Amino acid sequence: GVKKKEVNVLVVGLDNSGKSTIINHFKPPELKNHEIVPTVGFNVEKFKSKALAFTALDMSGQGRYRNLWEQYYKECDGIIFVIDSSDKLRMVVAKDELDLLLQHAELKDKRIPILFFANKMDARESVSSVKCSHLMGLETLRDKPWHICASNALTGDGLHEGVDWLTDQLK
Ligand code: GTP
Repeated sequence: GVKKKEVNVLVVGLDNSGKSTIINHFKPPELKNHEIVPTVGFNVEKFKSKALAFTALDMSGQGRYRNLWEQYYKECDGIIFVIDSSDKLRMVVAKDELDLLLQHAELKDKRIPILFFANKMDARESVSSVKCSHLMGLETLRDKPWHICASNALTGDGLHEGVDWLTDQLK
């Protein structure tokens, strides 16, 4: 058949937000126990599923390695930003990380779609995706298409809705 266009999706977010759990959900069964590729200074996880190539980057406490992320920013077609919606305190940190990402030279002028997962919606302390987008300041994000979905990576709720939106944007 016709080979599908392969798109690179960068999955970012603070540690413990649920990146690995989300990515695991989209892995074909034979890859569920895939290898984790450790890179100098930060963890990078890569896998491919159908037409999507995912690369996950852990954004926490790794400021001094940020210059090494440029290569991933350069080749990415879309971003999934995972937020732990049950951790209101660290959402301030997540917002700072988002702002840094948006200001990054490689992404500043790129009109790439950003999908936000307000993950852990099942947690008792979780806030709604609307509240989450407000806390993250998304109303000021005007130069890139974005979308936010509440998700539960443990059950998969919300994940496909989000990735369908992203895939649509990347067509
Ligand atoms: P790092 O590897 O530290 O960067 O974390 P990560 O962002 O990859 O998060 P990970 O997928 O390892 O999930 C962190 C913890 O949150 C694990 O214990 C998951 O089981 C749990 N978790 C992930 N998603 C959800 C969710 O939607 N709801 C709940 N209740 N727990 C979740």
